[in-house]
Amino acid sequence: MSLQPATARAGANIALVKYWGKRDSGLNLPAAGSISITLAELETQTTVAPMADLSDDRLELDGQSADPARIRPVLDRFRARSGVDARCRVETRNNFPTGAGLASSASGFAALVTAADAAFATGLDERGLSIEARLGSGSAARSIFGGFVEMASGTRVDGSDAHASALADAPHWPLEVVVAITTRQAKAVASTEGMNHTMSTSPYYPAWLSGMDADLEQARNAIARRDFEQLVAVTESSALKMHASALAAQPGILYWHAATVACLHEIRSMRLAGTGVCFTVDAGPQVKAVCLPGQGKRVARRLADIDGVEQVVQARLGPGAEVVS
Ligand code: PMV
Repeated sequence: MSLQPATARAGANIALVKYWGKRDSGLNLPAAGSISITLAELETQTTVAPMADLSDDRLELDGQSADPARIRPVLDRFRARSGVDARCRVETRNNFPTGAGLASSASGFAALVTAADAAFATGLDERGLSIEARLGSGSAARSIFGGFVEMASGTRVDGSDAHASALADAPHWPLEVVVAITTRQAKAVASTEGMNHTMSTSPYYPAWLSGMDADLEQARNAIARRDFEQLVAVTESSALKMHASALAAQPGILYWHAATVACLHEIRSMRLAGTGVCFTVDAGPQVKAVCLPGQGKRVARRLADIDGVEQVVQARLGPGAEVVS
């Protein structure tokens, strides 16, 4: 087989119904399903170049040399699958601020497996790519698909049924997203650490899990019917319940800053005044506003005016991961 470099892109995604907790840490199997939207403008582009003469994998992240430890197991699986034992040069770039809590691991692993599949000619389908991406980062399984996406927890111990699938494409309901960046410092507690700690010490974790089926059902219906009121209800509730379970851990995990809370209040008061917008917050202090089509600009202006908001980023829904060259 001739060794050809391949480049792929993938968009970040934002969960409307959150993934918070693993049923198996080794295989990154989620304890419950989740539902997300994939974004167009916030993306990672990754080139995988298998080279016959390299002694180890090399990673360049946004122009800086980085430790390849987290990508090596992913590449090992493509080497094993293809029978081609070549180390790789991997170059990856995010077009959004890295380390700002914008889930670069999701777009990063989705782009990496899509590029590796092309470079090693392994011919995986989207389900297979989603499983490979999940092994890198749980939320990355969702970035293989565009628009509205559901991740299944699966029940098999080998994880072969724990993958994402498409619910609806972006044109079905072209919602907009505004991300309010309230700090650029790396988050205090990484998501895996945060979810494991919540699972093992929070008295609210069982309550979190017991509500998941109903939340997934409500979100699926809201998306199918383009019912924004229902989507608002389940999106804000899922985010608040996730944070409530983390807050109740021992010791409690508090991801929010003052500016985070100020954004939540502003979003609710805009909604009361008639703007189609709701919030969600991941394992960090940034706020993501999900807006009805055409409302993103107004929401971005209002959030940018809040004390402590350093930057706002606007995005639309976009396609799934794809090979670009
Ligand atoms: O993919 P991970 O392991 O970084 O976990 C992501 C967890 C949240 O962002 C908090 C929620 C989600 O569903 O994306």
